[in-house]
Amino acid sequence: MSQGIPESVVEEIRRHTDLVSLVAEYLTLEKQGKNMIGLCPFHSEKTPSFTVSPEKQLFHCFGCGASGNVFSFIMKLDNLTFPEAARTLAGRAGIKIPERRAALSKHDHLKEQLYELNRLAARYFQYVLRESAAGKPAADYLRERGIDREASEMFMLGYAPRGWDNLGQFIRKKGFSPQLLQQAGLVSPRDGGGYYDRFRHRLMFPIFNLGEKVVGFGGRALEEGDKAGPKYLNSPETMIFEKGAILYGLHLSRESIRERKAAVVVEGYTDVIAAHQAGIKNVVASLGTSLTTGQGRLLRAQAETVIIAYDADSAGEVATWRGLKVLQEAGCFVRVAELPAGSDPDSLIRTAGAAALTDLVQNAQYLLEYQLRILKSRYNPAVPEGRLRYMEEALALLAQVSNLAERDIYLKRLAEELHVSEEALRGELKKHRQKGGGVNNLSLKDQTNNINQLRVNPAEKMLVSLMLQEEAVVSLARRELTEVDFDHGAARQTVVAIWNLESSGAAVSGEALIDLFEDPHMHSFITEAATDPSLQGLTREQAKRAAADCIEKIKKRILTRRRQELQRELKDMALNDQARNLLREQQQMITGLRRSPYRSGGGEDFNG
Ligand code: UTP
Ligand code: MN
Repeated sequence: MSQGIPESVVEEIRRHTDLVSLVAEYLTLEKQGKNMIGLCPFHSEKTPSFTVSPEKQLFHCFGCGASGNVFSFIMKLDNLTFPEAARTLAGRAGIKIPERRAALSKHDHLKEQLYELNRLAARYFQYVLRESAAGKPAADYLRERGIDREASEMFMLGYAPRGWDNLGQFIRKKGFSPQLLQQAGLVSPRDGGGYYDRFRHRLMFPIFNLGEKVVGFGGRALEEGDKAGPKYLNSPETMIFEKGAILYGLHLSRESIRERKAAVVVEGYTDVIAAHQAGIKNVVASLGTSLTTGQGRLLRAQAETVIIAYDADSAGEVATWRGLKVLQEAGCFVRVAELPAGSDPDSLIRTAGAAALTDLVQNAQYLLEYQLRILKSRYNPAVPEGRLRYMEEALALLAQVSNLAERDIYLKRLAEELHVSEEALRGELKKHRQKGGGVNNLSLKDQTNNINQLRVNPAEKMLVSLMLQEEAVVSLARRELTEVDFDHGAARQTVVAIWNLESSGAAVSGEALIDLFEDPHMHSFITEAATDPSLQGLTREQAKRAAADCIEKIKKRILTRRRQELQRELKDMALNDQARNLLREQQQMITGLRRSPYRSGGGEDFNG
């Protein structure tokens, strides 16, 4: 397991690394009993199920099952090999690791070599930019764009010179094979044999992973025209470069993102650099335009709020719209900073100053606000057809909103806007909700049953599960039972909430319910009910029949209990005469005591 690192050193690293403080660098933890709990960085979720035990120095996610110790935590989070993880943690704890490479697995060895190659390439490009005459065009370009020396160094910018075999030669001299260079995506095979440099006459932006390793490059053409190729050429995906799992600049912005609990996502390399240079440090770029699920999760692990600040052009608008969905699914609180037409964050900073961007970010629009505004701009409200289409799409959005108050606000506003009654709109909303149907929620589905069991009547719990699965059951239960018929507090509260949701025309889902409660016990009760594996995939009829059984059991229990109560009351009645005598005697004693000369103040201690 220690893979070339002496066990004693591994042990020392473990001793010097506290899992709680390590994890706390990545996510917000709160105390819960003996443990710390937070939102899992390894899967999307909205309610915390990621648990860290300070005592055992272990973590476990009750949602996705991820678990382990300090090493596995950063291996998983930053996609590192064991030796990389050990080295990172050793660095953090100030421990020296003796170099010994031989014991790496073949796969890890290859990865290490690719990292090394990329690092060398980045150093080479940087050298050419700074120290060689060939680098002058790039240096001039940076100056023109206003990227200063400090920023250039921080992002390790470089220049890939003209010519077909500059980097190739340099790296071969360092003893690496051309095949390996090709695997790193730095050269391509030539038709007649041999290889040529992929990046030529380009400004180079090394792309780092969270372990601060160079995993790939973006290269900006310094000339325009067909011969120059695309404006930006990027490394291909390699063993160490998975584009969808990387955010440009995150290794530098992570700290600031965590501090502010907010991240700003921009489109381009230069946007990130310009923002940093202007002192806005919680910024990352999504490498290309569409945010991936992996990037969404990466962001969610660092930030609660994500502000999208994409280019103000139509491509940017499309990308924003898609990004919203991805981020929302990852459980981020999303806002949109809309830039002035035709600008991007970099050009905005240059023309209007950093404060202009900061202002836009601070006043970023709320998700729904933005979405509704965009929708509205797409349809012509002057014609009924346009209004209807707008309404349809707006309702589809509203149907996804789980917060009732929020939905209500927008429903009212929409009704005003469209000159229709709120009731009519509510009715339409209900249809949308039915279209969406059922509990269909990732963050709930991947929760397991390990969540602490609350003691609860099985029929009540099953009925709640069925309600979450089949709408017909909600009204069935409502016809047959009232809230007091539910014994178990959590079940009763859940049922009341379900009925309230239904009355308001909201979608009844586990997720919507969870948002209504703060108590973690309620969360686990609802989660369990919503995910009960034995009840998944029932047909409507099966669900109704099962529900009818539950209802019967609950009613039977109520009847049984009532019978027992009556029996007791009858018994009490029989005892009545006897009891009355005893009571009288007791009363007399109390009165007697009150009058006791040994008690000074009075009898307010005795209330009968
Ligand atoms: P932009 O075209 O907006 O570039 O693409 P930019 O960052 O504003 O660059 P400058 O200011 O013109 O130099 C945004 C991002 O999309 C990716 C790059 O990551 C770029 O930073 N992109 C763009 C590509 O990967 N390939 C391209 O051909 C263009
Ligand atoms: Mn741009």
